Amino acid sequence: MWSYDKRLQFPVKIKNPDPQLAKIVISQLGGPDGELGASMRYLNQRYAMPYKECKGILTDIGTEELAHMEMISSILYQLTRNLTPEQIREGGFDAYFVDHTTGIYPQSAAGIPWSAATFQSKGDPITDLFEDMAAEQKARSTYDNLLRLIDDPDVREPLKFLREREVVHFQRFGDALSVVQSNLDAKNYYAWNPAFDVRPRERSAPAPSRPYPMQNRNGITAPRE
Ligand SMILES: [Fe+2]
Repeated sequence: MWSYDKRLQFPVKIKNPDPQLAKIVISQLGGPDGELGASMRYLNQRYAMPYKECKGILTDIGTEELAHMEMISSILYQLTRNLTPEQIREGGFDAYFVDHTTGIYPQSAAGIPWSAATFQSKGDPITDLFEDMAAEQKARSTYDNLLRLIDDPDVREPLKFLREREVVHFQRFGDALSVVQSNLDAKNYYAWNPAFDVRPRERSAPAPSRPYPMQNRNGITAPRE
């Protein structure tokens, strides 16, 4: 369950509407590395995460990403307020306007609607956490690119705040990865999937042999038991 705080995580107060900027900032709402995908990724992955500290990190960050989505939507709304048809045409916002007027719709800067195909929920904590760390870096790169293209300080300040949070999230997922690895076999982290397999030494009966030999990074086949 969530409780809603009726304020933004960081204030958004844009004085000058600019549909050209809205056209690119929208990628952080519905683009391949945007905030909607980030929140869906973490809030879905948390169920299979076997360790409670890591489940908590996914829930916390997934929740914060919802607040980031809200900030990006506020930026988009304020950038497209009170536009004239001329401003819409001149800002290249006409294609979006035809389909959505100035409503908020999750799509990438290139106009591709948001899709769940932009993220994974693999049910393997190492796989998922590596995806999460990469996702945070991809979001950070996207903010870097936006900041290279945007001069208005009213738009830059909230984007800079969001960029910093991606760096913090990357570090927190790194901590979660260490927790997962400390619960595994240090000689071969991939010997089993703690979200699905039973840990070999917890088995009462001898384990059946693997259909495929599991190998560590040195190419040594890991024994099942
Ligand atoms: Fe993030």
